[in-house]
Amino acid sequence: EGVSTISLKVNGTVRAIRAEPRVTLLDALREYLDLTGSKKGCDHGQCGACTVLVDGKRVNSCLTLAIMTQGKEVTTIEGLAKEGGELHPMQAAFLKHDGFQCGYCTPGQIMSAVACVQEGHAGSEAEVREWMSGNLCRCSAYPNITAAILEAKG
Ligand code: FES
Repeated sequence: EGVSTISLKVNGTVRAIRAEPRVTLLDALREYLDLTGSKKGCDHGQCGACTVLVDGKRVNSCLTLAIMTQGKEVTTIEGLAKEGGELHPMQAAFLKHDGFQCGYCTPGQIMSAVACVQEGHAGSEAEVREWMSGNLCRCSAYPNITAAILEAKG
């Protein structure tokens, strides 16, 4: 009782889980679908480590109910590289510019960065910093992250 079938389309594949309606998208990804790239930093919308795209828009998956994303396209860090393993340009730019140190925040940083460019918020360094301000990095790799985004936007 209290458990529903929730159908999620993640990285192009539809998968059904059996879970309580209150399960977050982050927990659905990590605990039910074994997609552990999205990280749980704060679980309260404060750190951005859990950032994914829903219909191309970034969301904090810890603040999103999985059930609310039914019928939408969820993209996680696991879905960015091409099938043969070729990195997404944003991933390549993060590597080139050392846009991480410990790497814990990196999946969320990269998903937010992809949205930054796609949604047209990478016009200047200041604009990038503003857009990315919800993604915290304890190693303080911010200058390198900004440089990576400015390069990847082409
Ligand atoms: Fe979602 Fe921190 S884990 S914002």
